[in-house]
Amino acid sequence: QHEGTPEPRAPVVTVMGHVDHGKTSLLDYIRKSGVAAGEAGGITQHIGAYHVETGHGMISFLDTPGHAAFTAMRARGAKSTDIVILVVAADDGVMPQTEEAVAHARAANVPLIVAVNKIDKEGADPDRVKNELSAKDVIPEEWGGDTQFINVSAHTGEGIEDLLDAVLLQAELLELQAPRNVPAQGIVIESRLDRGRGPVASLLVQSGTLRRGDIILAGLQYGRVRAMLDENGAPIEEAGPSIPVEILGLDGTPDAGDQFAVVENEKRARELADFRQDKNRETRLQRQQAAK
Ligand code: GTP
Ligand code: NA
Ligand code: MG
Repeated sequence: QHEGTPEPRAPVVTVMGHVDHGKTSLLDYIRKSGVAAGEAGGITQHIGAYHVETGHGMISFLDTPGHAAFTAMRARGAKSTDIVILVVAADDGVMPQTEEAVAHARAANVPLIVAVNKIDKEGADPDRVKNELSAKDVIPEEWGGDTQFINVSAHTGEGIEDLLDAVLLQAELLELQAPRNVPAQGIVIESRLDRGRGPVASLLVQSGTLRRGDIILAGLQYGRVRAMLDENGAPIEEAGPSIPVEILGLDGTPDAGDQFAVVENEKRARELADFRQDKNRETRLQRQQAAK
């Protein structure tokens, strides 16, 4: 449809790893906030999305609760991420969800960077992590493989600059590009119904520029972008490629991994949404009948 001229864009990074290995803490350190401490039980309840200016370039981060959303997105064919940071606690080593994350990254054909976290802890054994991951064919560069391993501490901040440099190095190899001067499209990261504000959706713009006032179709839902917020809840007027935003104005809550796109007008958006909903209903009926 709208081709536009490709321009360099920031990498979108998903942070994955076993429960409590420090994904959220790492992101918090990077953006110096403190969300993990404020979360109920320290468990990530929803996908957080942030973008940070590192001094060497911008990076957008997605924090996954387990891997459900990532898997859902992949199952829907939505490529949500350019690079996976695999967080492995140096005192715990490779655990079942570490292996799952490796499998997901491989299946999605996304390069991995290993962050060996909690390096400040007494029982930290980064060589053990290297050994265990090598046994899964994730081999460190210094051992002749092609994966960057970076020792970090989300508590002291040790190694985090190096981790960001590793991400930007990897991103450079990928030569990431997207057009900016076209209507936006991208994917739904998550959505929820807010009592006061109605449907709220986190979107990742993948190409083009999303503006307040645009009409969008997102999965089976549509609406005019009534308000757009950055990850700190501050209102913004527009967002370009690789930028995550929160928007208000949809008529319902689309699913994680749904695609969204700007449509020319509300009538067209409604037609498309109705068409998709009918199709959906049809498929459901057919499935029900087939099950009988
Ligand atoms: P889930 O989202 O529940 O899967 O966990 P997570 O991977 O996001 O881990 P989280 O950031 O919640 O950290 C789990 C625990 O490890 C918390 O108590 C953190 O304070 C602690 N922790 C995280 N990183 C470090 C680190 O580098 N050093 C030390 N000593 N503790 C850490
Ligand atoms: Na946790
Ligand atoms: Mg977390």
